[in-house]
Amino acid sequence: MAERKGIILAGGSGTRLYPITLGLSKQLVPIYDKPMIYYPLSVLMLAGIREIAIITTPQDQDQFRRTLGDGSQWGLSFTYIEQPSPDGLAQAYILAEPFLDGALSAMVLGDNIFFGHGLPELLAAADAQPVGGTVFGYRVVDPQRYGVVDFAADGTVRAIVEKPEVPPSRYAVTGLYFLDGSAPARARQVAPSPRGELEITSLLEMYLADGQLQVQQMGRGYAWLDTGTHASLLDAGNFVRTLSERQGQQIGSPDEIAWQQGWIDAEALRARAAMFGKNDYGAYLLRLCD
Ligand code: DAU
Repeated sequence: MAERKGIILAGGSGTRLYPITLGLSKQLVPIYDKPMIYYPLSVLMLAGIREIAIITTPQDQDQFRRTLGDGSQWGLSFTYIEQPSPDGLAQAYILAEPFLDGALSAMVLGDNIFFGHGLPELLAAADAQPVGGTVFGYRVVDPQRYGVVDFAADGTVRAIVEKPEVPPSRYAVTGLYFLDGSAPARARQVAPSPRGELEITSLLEMYLADGQLQVQQMGRGYAWLDTGTHASLLDAGNFVRTLSERQGQQIGSPDEIAWQQGWIDAEALRARAAMFGKNDYGAYLLRLCD
């Protein structure tokens, strides 16, 4: 079977972070020492995915191309796709249909940051499912802001509800979706919601109705960080800084992961390190090569 392909959805208007995002895409805003999109990109790389579509607004695509290039610096291949207007998360699968060409996929939202011991194993288990879909449930205090899992008394999943006024559980569905090759065809069947979007939860409900959706718990040992407000953006940056300074290890470095995966050699890593000059990120990469 063809390799699973990746999608990073990085469009949208980012209005909640105005005025920062008046001239800069939200997913390029810094989370401490790296652009936000490095973190979700790292998650796809940890899942072993090398062919990745990056979906952006038409006007922001140049910024992403300048920041990320064609992916070859990390042994990856990027395909840039425009989303003309933010018509919903499920639309990504329709836009990416020619890119996916029937392959399994993992889509991550460009503003979702994950961190936790055992993440590669969690991703590998989802990747190993050739049929159906896997999403991740994460306990939060404010589930009404997200897609929420509705569990039956026996623990099976009854429904996935988008931004319910009265949440059926505390478990939000994170912005990371492992789906099989039927996702684009299913996405074309999704009807726009009252807010006019092709909701990802409607697509997930289709899988659920066919008995083909797994909801994996992402337990308390994981951090799934919010970047939706100015305060949570700063908190996410501080989280990354605190942990990486304490441990002397990077979080969300595509350079380090590419090297660990054997997709680039020490020489290529050294060239990247040189590009970052004498800053801490460059020095870190240089230490890895040595
Ligand atoms: O973060 C996880 C949540 O993401 C899920 O729990 C929800 O089920 C899902 O609908 C989504 O909710 P949000 O309210 O966070 O969606 P938002 O409209 O903010 O979009 C999420 C990201 O995707 C954001 O960075 C912008 C981007 N986006 C959004 C839309 C609607 C696009 O690139 N294109 C779009 O059409």
